[in-house]
Amino acid sequence: MNVIHRKGWEIPENQATPEAVAMNRRALLAGAGAAGLLLASGPARANDPAPTDALHPYPRNPAYTIERELTPEAITSRYNNFYEFGTSKNIWQAAQALKTRPWTIKVEGLVEKPFEIGIDDLIAAMPREERLYRFRCVEAWSMTVPWSGFPMKAFLDRAKPLSSAKYVRMDTFVDARMAPGQAQNIFYPWPYQEAITVAEAANDLAFLVTGIYGKPLPKQFGAPLRLALPWKYGFKSVKSINRIVFTDTRPKSFWETLQSAEYGFWANVNPEVAHPRWSQATEEVLGENRRIPTQLFNGYGEQVAGLYKGLEKERLWA
Ligand code: MTE
Repeated sequence: MNVIHRKGWEIPENQATPEAVAMNRRALLAGAGAAGLLLASGPARANDPAPTDALHPYPRNPAYTIERELTPEAITSRYNNFYEFGTSKNIWQAAQALKTRPWTIKVEGLVEKPFEIGIDDLIAAMPREERLYRFRCVEAWSMTVPWSGFPMKAFLDRAKPLSSAKYVRMDTFVDARMAPGQAQNIFYPWPYQEAITVAEAANDLAFLVTGIYGKPLPKQFGAPLRLALPWKYGFKSVKSINRIVFTDTRPKSFWETLQSAEYGFWANVNPEVAHPRWSQATEEVLGENRRIPTQLFNGYGEQVAGLYKGLEKERLWA
């Protein structure tokens, strides 16, 4: 596959120094109490006002706490991948153009009865909770954040997939006037799509996200609905979902279509399997100016390893 534009992370590690330096400077600034300075350029703005905003904060589920420090909002809300709004990490301002209400989710394919549901009706109907999750990007940086949302399992109970459905595909919007990245990168296979198996979607860890840090999800994080799959590389966690399709054939996702040699379907985190152009053994902890060892399945093996029994011949890692 010939990719005309290179993704932000397609840089050999030895050329990634400026990024690392920038991150270190950011960590220093934060350490010097300059988080306020970062915020002075404008606080993270929330969604367009919505009736479900008042439901925040969601109660924390104590089963999903974590041994790592939470990554500050001042860092995570200014360092995002959201290619619809540009290929740099600094898309948070451009992403404020995303119009998140009204927002409808279409549920289609192999389900008992296809339907559409407004995002606020969906949020109001779901069992809401907050979970602390690790997040590991394929670019070898990581963060730990409090996501608010609902288990994907609860959504499956509502969607009622047929037993013939084996995969769930999630799509994002296409609107090149609103999203400059879609206008600039016309050869990318928009909409951004990702897919997982129905069995993965039913795993307790699969989480549909509507908020972060106890508040409605700021736009740059993929409002009003995104996925969080903490045992997989971050590119599987599709943002701004507006269509969910159940199918019996394995869908090809956005990055797989662009660069299948580097980004596969399963994309489970594995420190021992290097990306073709960099090691996955360690990760840069956002805002902490240090690297730590990466864990198999990002530390969630106990919950998810069973999903992959019998699939050992597949390429389970990105
Ligand atoms: N979803 C959409 N729609 N568009 C994107 O470009 N980038 C992915 C994922 N979901 C992406 C997306 C990648 S590569 C990562 S690492 C995470 O979003 C980044 O999530 P964050 O910005 O909340 O850290």
